[in-house]
Amino acid sequence: LFQWDYELMFSVPSYACQRRTTLENHNAVLTDALSLLAENAELSDQEGRGVAFRRAAAVLKALPGPVTGLTQLRGLPCLGEHSLRVIKDILENGASDEVESTRQSEHFKALKVLTGIFGVGPKTAERWIREGIHSLIQLRESGHTLNRAQQAGLLHYDDLNRPVTRAEADAITEVVVRAVVAVAPGAEVTLTGGFRRGKLTGHDVDFLITHPEEGREEGLMSKVVSWLRSQGFLLYEKTTRNSYLESTEGPARPASNMDRFERCLTIFKLDEDQRPGSEETKLWRAVRVDLVVSPISQFAFALLGWTGSKLFERELRRWAGHEKAMSLSSHALYDNNQSRYHRATSEEEIFAHLGLEFVPPSERNA
Ligand code: CTP
Ligand code: MN
Ligand code: MN
Ligand code: MN
Repeated sequence: LFQWDYELMFSVPSYACQRRTTLENHNAVLTDALSLLAENAELSDQEGRGVAFRRAAAVLKALPGPVTGLTQLRGLPCLGEHSLRVIKDILENGASDEVESTRQSEHFKALKVLTGIFGVGPKTAERWIREGIHSLIQLRESGHTLNRAQQAGLLHYDDLNRPVTRAEADAITEVVVRAVVAVAPGAEVTLTGGFRRGKLTGHDVDFLITHPEEGREEGLMSKVVSWLRSQGFLLYEKTTRNSYLESTEGPARPASNMDRFERCLTIFKLDEDQRPGSEETKLWRAVRVDLVVSPISQFAFALLGWTGSKLFERELRRWAGHEKAMSLSSHALYDNNQSRYHRATSEEEIFAHLGLEFVPPSERNA
């Protein structure tokens, strides 16, 4: 056929926040491979390598068609030597030995199983693996004392590792709205995270809660959580209070990328219709739900920060810092040249301050 027809050169801007990345991915085989290497690096305390693989995968996600030859990638940003080698192997041999051996490795599989427990991070998992613990059974038999989050994570392991559907996210939205209306009429609930970007499934459901009158959001979280608890919707909850005002580093530059809003990590008990023909007697499932409360003055920044994707957020901050000498957080945008904050009441205004074209949530799937 007309091979040369496909020898199109692609061109994409360097930062993921300059690109429109929908859920339509023409290079899923390649991006899955690079994402697996990214995940392995992140689980192995190699954040820099992880980001490099994530950036490379994001470039391929943004391409308008499938890559068929390496020559098409000439001049594209973020494709390092290592990522290009993986892409080459897959294009030429259908698979990458490095990716397949990582996927099959006992160490990677054990890290996945153990960090699949809510409340278990890579460091804890690594420590357990060094003791020979590779499975949930071995963990249960080890006699290790688990904290409250980990106990809940182990108890609801299967449910929490089953993707949450859009229908389930909608059902949970109804419950959260009922809770908020009951305790604070006038307060507003917004679905954020992957579902706001149009994803059909997610690992959890994320909500941002605010009140149109500044200050009226104070005390909201504990009331919402009490209501949910009293109605039997919560299997687990842990609230972290707002630490933004106590920050000494300045609002836009928290010590980590973590923001300082009052937040509650929960596990919801969601009633489920029994699947037809199913023998199961359990009529509910566990779902991870994140609740965040923001004052209205910071709402646009919180919304932008909690909509993701994680790489898109990281790229926005990198753009702000490297290209504009600004510091962006989920609370504020500080301009280091003008030594002042930029106000914003919408995401559109934040993109405009940053000198970026507005990218709607459905195109932030980098
Ligand atoms: N986030 C954050 N601080 C955290 C956790 C998450 O700012 N401690 C932000 C992330 O940057 C992301 C958003 O919250 O933008 C949602 O995070 P998460 O639920 O982990 O990811 P999703 O994109 O929603 O993906 P999934 O569907 O797997 O939940
Ligand atoms: Mn999410
Ligand atoms: Mn989340
Ligand atoms: Mn401005």
